[in-house]
Amino acid sequence: MNRILLGVSISFFTIRFAAGQASEPTYNYDEAKVGTYTLPDPLRMTNGKKVTTKGEWAKRRTELLQLFADNVYGQTPNQSVRLRFQTTHTEPNALGGKAIRKQVSIFFADYPKLQPIDVVLYVPKAAKKPSPVFLGLNFCGNHCITNESDVPLSTRWMTNAIGEVSVNSRATEKSRGMQARRWPLDTILARGYAVATAYYGDIEPDYPQGWQTGIRSVLGDTTKATNWGAIGAWAWGMSRMLDYLQTEPGIDSKRVIAFGHSRIGKAAAWAGAQDERFAAVVLNESGEGGAALARRWYGETVERINTSFPHWFCKQYKSYNKRVAELPIDQHELLALIAPRPLYVASADGDQWSDPKGEFLGAVGAEPIYRLYGKTGLGTTTFPAIDQPVGQTVRYHDRTGKHDVTNYDWEQYLRFADELVR
Ligand code: GCU
Repeated sequence: MNRILLGVSISFFTIRFAAGQASEPTYNYDEAKVGTYTLPDPLRMTNGKKVTTKGEWAKRRTELLQLFADNVYGQTPNQSVRLRFQTTHTEPNALGGKAIRKQVSIFFADYPKLQPIDVVLYVPKAAKKPSPVFLGLNFCGNHCITNESDVPLSTRWMTNAIGEVSVNSRATEKSRGMQARRWPLDTILARGYAVATAYYGDIEPDYPQGWQTGIRSVLGDTTKATNWGAIGAWAWGMSRMLDYLQTEPGIDSKRVIAFGHSRIGKAAAWAGAQDERFAAVVLNESGEGGAALARRWYGETVERINTSFPHWFCKQYKSYNKRVAELPIDQHELLALIAPRPLYVASADGDQWSDPKGEFLGAVGAEPIYRLYGKTGLGTTTFPAIDQPVGQTVRYHDRTGKHDVTNYDWEQYLRFADELVR
């Protein structure tokens, strides 16, 4: 079902931007109407030359990164930014003694007016060596992914769209633990993984003018059609969190898994594509602008996402609203940029807005690059039955249920990480 039209299961952020719901055009959910399209060949340079070696792929990789920057996410500023990591609290007995919890603020030394990114890090106490870690942003503040009462309430801008959990654009105590279900810390930690997260709004609050108080207020050039968008900023923030984790003795920084759900999944994909320090990438229902092919007319469209969320992508992307077939790239090439690293693409059957089949086909389209590295990616072109994970270095499942992150999803991600990242 279309979660835009179905008031119950929609993401609360959608409500804010989905103006004029009554006059919504109908979105396609009929496979027979998807139409035909031709995907760009990831292994063909813009000049037409075929890529056959890893060396040539390295050049094509640079070209693709540029094409995604110029046409979709905007250019990530390449100047290095001086960071200062400040540990504000260490709790040696978090989660009933199972974890060491650290709260660390990432300050931007050159931009003292910017507020820091506040990271919370859980490291398994039983670990005998540095732990691999899932690094992902969260939707509602660090206090909302745990029920622990001593994790400070985020004081940043927060959407009001979900009633009492946020008042005057600030979180209330009612939001504590609100998304703890999506972050099964006990299970993840028991399996030997650390978790590092921060509120995505610390990097840029998620509304069209949000950039004015985020990192994009000081980096980039807002006059350019190729200036980075919010997704680019969130992806950049994930890399800064990784910078911090590289200094953290409890963490194995060669085993950092970028994880993200939905819009934050789009950011995780772009982060993983650009920053090869991420050892693996997990994309939970990342949909349009994430793993789903843009050219497939099914569920959310390029025009719709650019209209509802004008701040997410670069301005140039809007020029493709009515000519998607002319995009010089498609999202399978974003996933190809993650190769040869392990990649998990996940859908939910009740989340047709994200186009599960389009997400699967995005993963299928990355196969030739995994093959170039002598690896099998998905190893299949057949869309699997519900709740039947498939694949090798690239994995995919279409889970029963709605747009969400569930224990089922985590079970698969932990098995994937055990097999491919450890
Ligand atoms: C909306 C949006 C999606 C996005 C989702 C979310 O539904 O259209 O592209 O993934 O919000 O972030 O929950």
